[in-house]
Amino acid sequence: MARLTVVCMPGDGIGPIVLPEALRVLDAVGFEADYVQAEVGWECWRTRGEPLPARTLELLETWRLGLFGAATSKPMDQAESELPPELQGRGLTYYSPSVAIRQAFDLDVAIRPCRSFPGNPLNFIRRAADGSVEEPRVDVVVFRQNTEGLYSGVEWTHPPPQVRAALDTHRRMVRFRYIPSEDMALSCRIFTRPACLRIAEAAFRYADEHGYPSVTCCEKPNIVRETSGMLLAACREVQRAFPHVDLWATNIDTMTMWLTKNPEDYGVIVSGNVFGDILSDAFAGLVGGLGFAPSASIGARCAIFEPTHGSAPKYAGYEVPIVNPVAMILAGAMLLDHVGERERARRIHRAVARVVADARVRTCDMLRLRASPEVLGQGAASTREMTDAVIQAL
Ligand code: IPM
Ligand code: MN
Repeated sequence: MARLTVVCMPGDGIGPIVLPEALRVLDAVGFEADYVQAEVGWECWRTRGEPLPARTLELLETWRLGLFGAATSKPMDQAESELPPELQGRGLTYYSPSVAIRQAFDLDVAIRPCRSFPGNPLNFIRRAADGSVEEPRVDVVVFRQNTEGLYSGVEWTHPPPQVRAALDTHRRMVRFRYIPSEDMALSCRIFTRPACLRIAEAAFRYADEHGYPSVTCCEKPNIVRETSGMLLAACREVQRAFPHVDLWATNIDTMTMWLTKNPEDYGVIVSGNVFGDILSDAFAGLVGGLGFAPSASIGARCAIFEPTHGSAPKYAGYEVPIVNPVAMILAGAMLLDHVGERERARRIHRAVARVVADARVRTCDMLRLRASPEVLGQGAASTREMTDAVIQAL
């Protein structure tokens, strides 16, 4: 196979801490690739007013494969106030670079595995009928439509008259007829059939290839009829090509109740953008939290791999970093899987599983310690020590 080049976008906050750890693991597992560094995130905004520089987009356009650390987002007014004076008042607006990359390259399929590693003290447990404690094995993969829905960005506070007039053609607008447009905020939840079919196909193909018996479509078609209905219809259509994979449908609200009752009953889940965002965090919470949750954003010509966690800037300034690098390491393994390096990806998984099961090396989140430099004296491993343990276990 031709040697690959991976665009590395550490970003800010803890992104630049965890991303190099994933690279160490990729090296250790024998993955030979070239890496190019690209800037993204808060520093780019603060100094130049652009969170996603053109060079980064060009590199992604060229190499089509990226590792992303994390990028801070702040409310609009605060973002503006942190710009250098000469860039203020020019109408520059901050936007989330990870969302911008997803949309720029149409990375419409997000894959978010939430799998418990046995022995993780953060795993979800529940009380059984006889009072004993059970630890169900969670093995869920959320397929989140990654570019549309409420992330369409088509929104207004005070919609212009043409938009208002168009809305007023809908009979349900009667209820709002006395509300002046300036008192109205509108965020369009746009679903398109091609995107629904693509996420449904990705979910069914994955279930088929990995031996999951069913796909659960998690939306709210009883109320949000048109958009949720379109995704469910796409799932029904795609399911016909996978007769041995069942299709289940559940509503998002019910799902967030069921997932702490019987999480072991779920496997592949497919959702729109916002519900998929919520569900992937909810399931991540059952398997150790965001320190264990990787994510892939995949399009037809580019793919980005990142931890689901954010930039957590308050944990970034430590002399010895203490954040858990596992989510980023697992994101690296997802990259390997994506480029066909299945065995190397599996080795990383097995190594993480062994470190977790061995119980000797635990980052502070795993010990439920409040993050502070003191945790190192309380038995917590540093970020680097955790990676070292994974490399050792390889
Ligand atoms: C995620 C994150 C992002 C999102 C944020 C950082 C914009 O929560 O990847 O799930 O909302 O998609
Ligand atoms: Mn999220």
